[in-house]
Amino acid sequence: MAAVEAAQDEAALEAARIGALGKKGRLTLLMKELGAMPPELRKERAQELNLLKDRLTEALHMRRADLAEAALAARLASERVDVTLPVRPEPRGSIHPVSQVIDEIGEIFAGMGFNIVEGPDIEEDFYNFTALNIPPEHPARQMHDTFYFNEKADGSRKLLRTHTSPVQVRTMLSEKPPHRIVVPGRTYRCDSDQTHTPMFHQCEGLVIDRHIHMGHLKGALEDFCKAFFELDEVKMRFRPSYFPFTEPSAEVDIGCRRNGAELKIGEGDDWLEILGCGMVHPKVLEYGGLDPEEWQGFAWGIGIDRLAMLKYGIPDLRAFFESDQRWLQHYGFVPTDWPTLAGGLSR
Ligand code: DAH
Repeated sequence: MAAVEAAQDEAALEAARIGALGKKGRLTLLMKELGAMPPELRKERAQELNLLKDRLTEALHMRRADLAEAALAARLASERVDVTLPVRPEPRGSIHPVSQVIDEIGEIFAGMGFNIVEGPDIEEDFYNFTALNIPPEHPARQMHDTFYFNEKADGSRKLLRTHTSPVQVRTMLSEKPPHRIVVPGRTYRCDSDQTHTPMFHQCEGLVIDRHIHMGHLKGALEDFCKAFFELDEVKMRFRPSYFPFTEPSAEVDIGCRRNGAELKIGEGDDWLEILGCGMVHPKVLEYGGLDPEEWQGFAWGIGIDRLAMLKYGIPDLRAFFESDQRWLQHYGFVPTDWPTLAGGLSR
C-alpha cells in the first residue's frame, strides 16, 4: 500500500502492482500457500487475503485516476494559450488596385441591373475585328498593334484580344436580348512605354433593347462617373468621334483641374478623356444575329488601369505589373473591405 501511495507515475504504479499482485507478487505467493493449509485455518486466511486484495485493487485504481488527472492538468497548463495577448504583426496580402476598380465597376453596374460577363483572352479574328465591322483590309486593324499567333493549316490565326469589345458579339450570339452587361478583363497590344503596357485592362459595357437611344447612354455613363468618383456632380463632355463598331460614336471627357502633377476630378476647367462609346452599329447587331430594325443599343469601352490611376493618385502605370510588395502594401486594399454602394466603394 505504501508503494502504491508513493508512486509518482504510471510505471512506478505498475511496478507496485506487480510486486503485490503479479505472478510472483507477495499477495499471489501468500494465496498459493492456502492449498497446503489445514481446512479449518484456510477459510479464515482466505477471507483475510481476499479482503487485502480488494483493498489493494481499489487503492491501485484510485491512484491511477489521480495520476491521470494530474497528467491532464500538467498538459493543459503547458499548452495554455493566452487569447488576450495583442496580435503579432503578420504579413498580409492586399487587393491590387486593378482588382479593386473591377469590383467597384461591377458593384455600380450590378446596382443598375447589369450582368458581369467575361470572354477569352485568346480570341478569333472574327470576334475581335470582323464582327465589329472591321473587315480584313480596314485601316483600324493597323491601329490595334495586334499580337498574332502562328497561322494554322486552314490559314486562320488566333490573336490576343486588343479590346474587350469582342464579348459584345459573343454575348449577342449566345444569349437572348435584351442585354445589359459589363465585361472587365485583360487586353493586349504590342505597345510599351511610360503610359502603355503590352497587357492592360478594359471594361466593356453593352445595352441592347428596343427603343434605346443616346439619352440612355449619356444617363448611364454620367451615373457611373458620379458613383465611381464618389462625387455628387461631375462635368462631362461627349465629343464626336469615330469607332467602326458604333454610329454615332463619341469620346467622353470629364472635367478636372490640373495642378502640376496633381489632378483633381470634378472641379476645374480642364478636360480628361476617359472612355469611348456610341450607339451599336447596325452591322454589329447583324453579326450578333439581331435585326437592327427591332433592336438598338449602346456600348462603351473604358480603361481600367487609367481609372485606377486617376481615382487613387497612382503616378506610374508600369508599377502596376511589377509585383513589388512595397507598392502593393502602399496602394493595395484590405481584402475584407469589399466595395459596396451602401457601405462605400473605397475607404
Ligand atoms: N474598343 C475600343 C478601344 O479599345 C473602345 C470602345 C469604344 C469600346 C467605343 C466601345 C465603344 O464599346 O462603343 O479603343
